[in-house]
Amino acid sequence: MIELTNATKTYDSGGGLIRAVDDVTLTVRDGEFVAVVGHSGSGKTTLVSLMGGLTKPTSGNIFIGGTDIWTLDNLNLARLRSEKIGFCFQFSSLIPTLNSIDNVRLPASFAGGERGGLERAMSLLETVGVTDKAKAYPAELSGGQQRRVAIARSLVNEPRIMLADEPTGDLDEQTEVDIMKLFQGLNQQGVTIVMVTHSQKLAAQAGRILTMTAGVVAEGIATGDAGV
Ligand SMILES: Nc1ncnc2c1ncn2[C@@H]1O[C@H](COP(=O)(O)OP(=O)(O)OP(=O)(O)O)[C@@H](O)[C@H]1O
Ligand SMILES: [Mg+2]
Repeated sequence: MIELTNATKTYDSGGGLIRAVDDVTLTVRDGEFVAVVGHSGSGKTTLVSLMGGLTKPTSGNIFIGGTDIWTLDNLNLARLRSEKIGFCFQFSSLIPTLNSIDNVRLPASFAGGERGGLERAMSLLETVGVTDKAKAYPAELSGGQQRRVAIARSLVNEPRIMLADEPTGDLDEQTEVDIMKLFQGLNQQGVTIVMVTHSQKLAAQAGRILTMTAGVVAEGIATGDAGV
C-alpha cells in the first residue's frame, strides 16, 4: 500500500514558488492498477517520484507498506526502494558500457541475493521480447528496445510496486500494446502499478484513473476534459 497524507512538493524556480504537488492525500491499495493523467506540468512525474521515495515532500508524509519512508535513514530508504519498487521512467537510461543482460542484472547485484542470475536475466529479456539483443549494448538498440530492457531491469528484484512514468511514450503502437500487456500480466500476479500516461486508451485499461490538475489529484477523468 502507498499512502500520501497532505503531501506537498514545492519548487522555488526563481519566478515564484511552484506547487508541483499540492496537499495530496491518497491511498493506492495493494494490487491496484492506477493510471495518472493530466496536462503537461500538472505534477504527474513529481507525484510518482514522491510515491517512490525519489523526491522528498516539502511537507506531508509518504507511507509504503505502513512505513513513513522519510523517517528511514538513507541506507534503509535505498533498500526499501530497491526491494519493493520497480521504476520505469521515460528517460531512465541504461548503463552504456553494459550489455542488455548485465544492465538487467545490475539492480540485483545491489540488492544482494540470488535474483541476478544469467538465466533469470535471460527470462526477463524474453518477457519483454528482446532475447535477440541480450548481448547488445544500449547504443546498438532502438529506443523501444532500450525501453524494454529498462523494463526488464526494473523487474529483476521482483518488486511488489511498479511506478512507471510514461513507459510507452514515443513508442510505436505495437510496442505500446506489448508493454501494456506486460503490465497487466504483472498486475494479475498482484503487482501494484501506478502508470503515468498521456494515452486515454491506455488509461481506460487501468482499474482506476487519477487526474492531476495544477498539483491537485482528482479521481477519474473530469467531464469535458480528457486531461491529456
Ligand atoms: N526540479 C525542478 N525544479 C523546478 N521546478 C520543477 C522541477 N521539477 C518539476 N518542476 C515543476 O513542477 C511542475 C510539475 O512538473 P512535473 O514534471 O511533475 O509535471 P508532469 O505532469 O510530469 O509534466 P509532463 O507531462 O510534461 O511530464 C512543473 O511546473 C515543473 O516545471
Ligand atoms: Mg512528467
